Amino acid sequence: MADISINFAGIKSPNPYWLASAPPTNTGYQVQRAFEAGWGGAVWKTLCEPVLNVTSRFGGYHFNGQRVAGFNNIELVSDRPIEENLQEIYETKKRFPDRVIIASLMVEPQRDKWHEIVKRVQAVGVDGFELNLGCPHGMSERGMGSAVGQHPDLVEKSTLYAKEVAEVPVITKLTPNITDITATAKAAERGGADAVSMINTINSLIGVDIDTWNPIPNVNGKGAHGGYCGPAVKPIALNMVGECARQPDFHIPISGIGGISNWQDTVEFMLMGAGGVQICTAAMHHGFSIIDDLTEGLSNYLDAKGIASVSELIGKSVEKYTDWSNLDLNHRMVARINNDVCINCNKCHIACEDTAHQCIDMLVDENGDEYLKVREDDCVGCNLCSIVCPVEGAIDMVDLVQTEPPMSWNDRQAALQMLNSSR
Ligand SMILES: Cc1cc2nc3c(=O)[nH]c(=O)nc-3n(C[C@H](O)[C@H](O)[C@H](O)COP(=O)(O)O)c2cc1C
Ligand code: SF4
Ligand code: SF4
Repeated sequence: MADISINFAGIKSPNPYWLASAPPTNTGYQVQRAFEAGWGGAVWKTLCEPVLNVTSRFGGYHFNGQRVAGFNNIELVSDRPIEENLQEIYETKKRFPDRVIIASLMVEPQRDKWHEIVKRVQAVGVDGFELNLGCPHGMSERGMGSAVGQHPDLVEKSTLYAKEVAEVPVITKLTPNITDITATAKAAERGGADAVSMINTINSLIGVDIDTWNPIPNVNGKGAHGGYCGPAVKPIALNMVGECARQPDFHIPISGIGGISNWQDTVEFMLMGAGGVQICTAAMHHGFSIIDDLTEGLSNYLDAKGIASVSELIGKSVEKYTDWSNLDLNHRMVARINNDVCINCNKCHIACEDTAHQCIDMLVDENGDEYLKVREDDCVGCNLCSIVCPVEGAIDMVDLVQTEPPMSWNDRQAALQMLNSSR
């Protein structure tokens, strides 16, 4: 059986699955139950000066019958006294010495404040710190969270302050509410971070109640922007992980977070450069027992691929993630409809006719039955028909034999430049 343990920035974990800092890691009771269920680690709900929370505070984005396709919240950091949390961290670590406990911390970007909280918390024996520079609501209005995480200089300074006194690894958690996350990731590295984690939640308004006209969620009729997470944010998080992992001047591990719901998502994040993953919404939606599927699925996948250790997956797809200008302009694909499987729903025809390249013809066979056929000369291989097709295997996207040698936009520009300079 494959080894699914990881060593993330020097922190050993029996599997790559940590609960992200959030409601599932709010108390010792919960984290201990999660460890009993099999979770490898937990990033404790962010410790800070205790806050007051509001009710209600969560919003679900249910799409087309799927509950919690996305999730948002206006919850703040821990509303429990730090001492209480520290006592529970101490007890939990004592009971589960082989599991990872990371303390998530948040203070203003001031040296003495970071020194004070790091020293106080490490006294109870955590395996690492995660600096919450990402909370987009409430705390940012008080000069913390994403108010810090949106400024590379403050990210660097906060990391540096924590590192000055931390005796265990420091992970800087980044906000996605920024134009270029590689700028803050590199700032964290400059500050001495042992790793970064991404993503925290994305600014969002989950909906408006069209009867009461109240924003969702609402607190006595009023709402505020919240943080978005869950399956809907996975593509955004995955890109941010990949963008950071492929930077030649970025060298520290990444803890992948954002919409991870199953073992397949985990594999994708690890292939794109994550050294481990964190999960919040999926645990809130389905409970701690999802860890069984997460670990079993991952283990079976590795066995089936003949891979001995999950760590061998890390970053394997990063080289394939590049700039658009490096893609081969001469590569050609077309759609082919498999009429044995097609149910003639016509969705592909409508999609291609209305919003693509009008190259799916409706023909009539010798029995007088209608069928669809792609006019391959006009098909641009955009994928749309296969995306809208509801039947697995009814449309294949097929590579055509390449007649021209590969040529990217960069190659093309270089060739043009050479031509011009030789004239
Ligand atoms: C209700 C709620 C509270 C959260 N509180 C925190 C927090 O205290 N500290 C923190 O760093 N992230 C917090 N997060 C963000 C999560 O740790 C995580 O980054 C985010 O939810 C994305 O992961 P997911 O898609 O698996 O939920 C919170 C998320 C939710 C849903
Ligand atoms: S791949 Fe695009 S262009 Fe080709 S048939 Fe499908 S929708 Fe039309
Ligand atoms: S969308 Fe798929 S199933 Fe429907 S007509 Fe096109 S190929 Fe057939």
